[in-house]
Amino acid sequence: MAFNRLCGKYAVIVFTAVMLILAQVVPGLAADGKAVFDKVCSPCHKTGKLGAPVFGNKEAWAGRIAQGKEALYQHVTEGLGMMPAKGGDAALSGDEVKAAVDYIVNESK
Ligand code: HEC
Repeated sequence: MAFNRLCGKYAVIVFTAVMLILAQVVPGLAADGKAVFDKVCSPCHKTGKLGAPVFGNKEAWAGRIAQGKEALYQHVTEGLGMMPAKGGDAALSGDEVKAAVDYIVNESK
């Protein structure tokens, strides 16, 4: 019995430690849409260069957002018109592309 109680205590400690570590690591793993936007997308989408819809301009984005997010992710991943695939940064992961699209959409609707 004492052995079981001891195990229970250790299990709680280990569980707590794992949760604390995860809490530190997971937000770091989640792609930062704003950071990707600022680095890769803003040269076109802040100014409207090459006809890019301008960040935060609800009218410019309404029709595009209406296509649904999956279509937007795909268009950015593959490129669309004057926009190169992944905005020109082939090193971006799928999650980073999605996070950047989500950031634009959330700030432009
Ligand atoms: C070289 C300039 C350029 C860069 C860099 C760029 N875009 Fe674009 N983007 C455009 C242009 C131009 C369009 C309009 C394309 C069209 O409709 O012909 C566009 C359109 C879009 C659309 C709408 C697509 C649709 O289906 O209507 C999204 C979403 C988008 N860009 C997201 C991004 C993201 C996210 C990044 C950064 C990872 C990025 N763009 C980087 C030029 C750029």
